[in-house]
Amino acid sequence: MGMPIRIGIAGLGTVGIGVVKILRECSDIIEARLGKRVEVVAVTAKSKEKPRDENLDGYAWEENPLDLVNRNDIDIFVELIGGTDGVAHEAVKLALSNGKHVVTANKAMLAVHGKKLAELAESNNVSLKLEAAVAGGIPVIKVITESLAGSNIKRVMGVINGSCNYILTRMEKSGLSYETIFKEANDLGYLEADPQLDVGGIDAAHKIAILSSLSFGTVVNLDGVTIQGIEKISIDDIKHAADMGYRIKLLATAQITELGLEQRVTPCLVPDLSPLGGLEGGTNMVVIETIGSDPIILQGPGAGRIPTANAVVSDIIDIIRGSKVKTFGRAASLLKDVHVSKGSTSTSYYIRLLVDDKPGTLAKVTAALGNEGISINRLRQYDHNATKAPVIIVTHETTSSSIEIALKKLSETGVISIEPVALRIEK
Ligand code: HSE
Repeated sequence: MGMPIRIGIAGLGTVGIGVVKILRECSDIIEARLGKRVEVVAVTAKSKEKPRDENLDGYAWEENPLDLVNRNDIDIFVELIGGTDGVAHEAVKLALSNGKHVVTANKAMLAVHGKKLAELAESNNVSLKLEAAVAGGIPVIKVITESLAGSNIKRVMGVINGSCNYILTRMEKSGLSYETIFKEANDLGYLEADPQLDVGGIDAAHKIAILSSLSFGTVVNLDGVTIQGIEKISIDDIKHAADMGYRIKLLATAQITELGLEQRVTPCLVPDLSPLGGLEGGTNMVVIETIGSDPIILQGPGAGRIPTANAVVSDIIDIIRGSKVKTFGRAASLLKDVHVSKGSTSTSYYIRLLVDDKPGTLAKVTAALGNEGISINRLRQYDHNATKAPVIIVTHETTSSSIEIALKKLSETGVISIEPVALRIEK
């Protein structure tokens, strides 16, 4: 069977411990499939003392990830520390420069430094693999870079933040407010250490920026993603959407339009009977639309110990098998810098306003929309109190740029009391 392949793991949180567990418990299966043994040799994490589910006694402990990388008994460096910059980024750069293969789940780092790191890997003739960085246990990276290597992808979209989907579906089922369910999710440990990464749409933006690069061969462009989180979604929005046959999902979408690359993460109304509309709890779904084929729909766990660790281990196995698939599915030098287009694709919108209940208010609302060429499909005023009235509007197709301008001008008229909520309706 020859020499074992030696692994160093930096970061022993949920996923890191999962990788240790799989490599230990499935070592015979992996050896049978590979014809080689895979062994964890050394590990590092912030705290050695922290109680963990796996016994780490058999592994060398390094205090510093850079020291782990510098060990000469490591063939593959697994980075599960996380974070855009800092020690994770330094350790990955050092490993690649030292000619060591790297497997990472670090979407934030890849969304910002992806192209440079891929170039570094290629110039040192080693692999940088990222299956676990997007949608955890769904093998979407391999599907795009390998299974669809001959396909022309026109749009990739999905629910790729499980925590937001958990919050939205729990609100819907319980009738409880965003604030209450946010606290519940946080108490259950479902949210990132900085919950804003989840509910602010940033985690999904990291992931769609990576999927976009893989799908269209473009340079990863996080700044080009329009981001809107779920914080302003009220239980009323969820009920109104349900009345119209929709559910609200935090949808990440990337597509090439005539005006350039459009990438967005925004809460949207999707038909409740569609695959995306039926998605419950923390599950993820990615829909890949290619020319000449019906959409490919992948569904599965977007996070969690074993699903995400499996993705890491599959990358380790790919490297050992000698996979030549590049980080973003093509040579980093061939990734294109394309024009970013924001808000150009048309769709209907759901708008919720709280307006002054006095003569002429609705005229101002309809004028603000009409002046931007926005036509109203439905309008409903409900639950008035003494002075205020909530208003729900569904528009005909328009662009987000027109909606933004109309709502800004409407705010300037002084008839609306809270910041309006405007959500795309996806067909
Ligand atoms: N915070 C992420 C989610 C975890 O909720 O999907 C996996 O990236």
